[in-house]
Amino acid sequence: MRLNRYLATCGIASRRSAEAMIVGGRVLINGKKITDLATTVSPERDVVLVDGKKVEPIRKMVYVLLYKPKGYITTANDELGRKNVLELVKLKERIFPIGRLDRNSEGLLLLTNDGDMAFRLMHPRFKVDKTYRVRLETPFREQDFEAFSNGIELEDGITSPCKAGYLSDSPNLIEIRLHEGRNHQVRRMLNALGYEVAALKRVQYGPLTLKGLARSEWRMLTQFEVMQLRKAVGLVKTEERQRKRGPQKNHHRD
Ligand code: URA
Repeated sequence: MRLNRYLATCGIASRRSAEAMIVGGRVLINGKKITDLATTVSPERDVVLVDGKKVEPIRKMVYVLLYKPKGYITTANDELGRKNVLELVKLKERIFPIGRLDRNSEGLLLLTNDGDMAFRLMHPRFKVDKTYRVRLETPFREQDFEAFSNGIELEDGITSPCKAGYLSDSPNLIEIRLHEGRNHQVRRMLNALGYEVAALKRVQYGPLTLKGLARSEWRMLTQFEVMQLRKAVGLVKTEERQRKRGPQKNHHRD
């Protein structure tokens, strides 16, 4: 691809302004200053810097909401060859699950190619709640709910306070809402209190629910939902701040 076009796909400038940048000696390819407008670039192989900053093409971001059924794993590269959630979502974009759901768990799983969003949704600092419905092998004792708000001692440290309560008249059914995302966290918290989990389902992730989806079904998030997620992880505020600060020095747009 011609260098000026490449710079345009990176959102740096129009093709015409990109030419001025090239001629002005502001562009390096693999460490070498390039001023020839006929230069081509291979997006996979070449490292392109403008004013000393690496630039990359804007990819189309995709966000998928899947109703994960039991029996599928969410981690890549499984040596045992077990079924993977990626087999359920047929898309040409390369996507990955945001966080994990155990093979024996079901429910709401988000997948994306947006690394920044995934990082923020998973990081406890951004405090995005996840809600789990749990069926226990034995009735849950009311006095044990307090443990969730106090924190439960696990081998990787005490858990952050979270909310839990009965879901219905059945004492075997409870709902837990937390923003941490440690491995097997819900099962481990319940095991620590002396319970065995019979079934575990994630029903909500931030503002998103499973409404309208059957097991194994998936859909793209709407623009509104993506905006809700961006707000939930503080990305919208960041963008507003950047807009207020004005265009970055040396990164002209037509
Ligand atoms: N906590 C668990 O223990 N398992 C899950 O799949 C999700 C949360």
